[in-house]
Amino acid sequence: MFENPTIAVIGLGYVGLPLAVALARHFDVMGFDIDKKRIEELRDHHDRTGELTRGELADSTLQYVVDDSFLEEAHIHIITVPTPVGADNKPDLRAVESASRTVGRRIRMGSVVVFESTVYPGVTEEVCGPILEQESDLVAGRDFFLGYSPERINPGDKVHTVDQITKVVAGQTEKVANLLAKVYGTMNNGNIYIAKDIRTAEASKVIENAQRDINIAFVNEITDIFGKMGLSVHDVLEAAGTKWNFLPFTPGLVGGHCIGVDPYYLAHAAQRLNIEPRVILAGRAINDGMAHKIADRIHAELKPESNVLVLGVAFKENVPDIRNSKVVDMVRRLQEHGHDVDVYDPMADVEETRREYGIGLIAEPAGGYDAVVGAVGHSSFLSLSLRRLVKPGGLVADVKAIWRSRGVPSELRYWTL
Ligand SMILES: NC(=O)c1ccc[n+]([C@@H]2O[C@H](COP(=O)([O-])OP(=O)(O)OC[C@H]3O[C@@H](n4cnc5c(N)ncnc54)[C@H](O)[C@@H]3O)[C@@H](O)[C@H]2O)c1
Repeated sequence: MFENPTIAVIGLGYVGLPLAVALARHFDVMGFDIDKKRIEELRDHHDRTGELTRGELADSTLQYVVDDSFLEEAHIHIITVPTPVGADNKPDLRAVESASRTVGRRIRMGSVVVFESTVYPGVTEEVCGPILEQESDLVAGRDFFLGYSPERINPGDKVHTVDQITKVVAGQTEKVANLLAKVYGTMNNGNIYIAKDIRTAEASKVIENAQRDINIAFVNEITDIFGKMGLSVHDVLEAAGTKWNFLPFTPGLVGGHCIGVDPYYLAHAAQRLNIEPRVILAGRAINDGMAHKIADRIHAELKPESNVLVLGVAFKENVPDIRNSKVVDMVRRLQEHGHDVDVYDPMADVEETRREYGIGLIAEPAGGYDAVVGAVGHSSFLSLSLRRLVKPGGLVADVKAIWRSRGVPSELRYWTL
């Protein structure tokens, strides 16, 4: 189709930016985002998501654009915008719809529009395709073509980067699928799986995260069961993990905007077919209930009105991403129990945390707390002195079990799930 296509990536967040930079090593690539501040920062070689370094941005030929008329120059448009859920846990497709309107106005005969956002099967062809047709006055599958390539990267993971993992691609026609295999394959040494069709590729992504969610829910459930039996779930998991096919999941909070969100997309798709997704929603309910459960367990170990330091507000270790962080629910629950809670997270953005959650992060923990709660396993927390942070007789509540094998000073009490 195209020998040397110009590519536009729409939405330069956790997914779009690393992808655009990886593709720009081989193609002419422009990156477009509606967040002008983000574009300014990127032009100054600053990636607030921490995925790429200054050097990587400075070395890249990626062109940043805020004016969508430049998108007309691209042959392939790749849309990587958010797909969250609303307050009712139903898919919120406004960003993919809006990006489809923007791109629809800029495509021409022969264009290829690929979606990477996580969706339920059918969104690319039944929701976005018609918007692109309407805006462009072109016909999908005849004048321009749709594609889908789910994104699998894992924020903060420097091993499974976009150029090192198998990329699933699908196209509206075989020719488009082959084009996408070639384009993406250029970036990742041909490590491509061509899915049967777009809906299959959409379905494959959404079950990857739903499967993780259900597995974590199972471990969270057995944590409760074994806790009541006086057994440590970690000891049990360690023993069971010696079997070759035992899956290594650990208990805890499930936040962020992938594992805690994508299962709702699948559940919504099921409900539209009058299928009640019992396992999927049970998993969600168990995992969503963990923040209160953990807070209640910690509260039971504390004297009234304790001073508590919570370490971490990001949704997972070693990332600044605070979206849909369940630590926030845990903090609020501890406050409802009457405790005075400080939250420390050197990776999270202070302003964003205040704006999103009304939590003012402290700059440096003073010390002398009644309890410290290790809520997120940022590597930097391991160098903190628990002896300085917690009063003798105080509690170390180790939600992520980061001190479990390292041990805590003998004058402190230790609790983990
Ligand atoms: N973060 C992950 O690790 C990850 C992994 C796999 C899949 N995904 C999926 O990838 C998609 C993107 O996620 P993300 O984490 O990169 O989101 P993000 O919030 O980090 O980035 C999205 C970017 O899109 C921009 N944007 C929003 N609406 C736009 C529009 N109409 N036009 C242009 N730009 C727009 C935002 O300003 C933002 O910079 C989601 O569907 C997500 O589920 C994310």
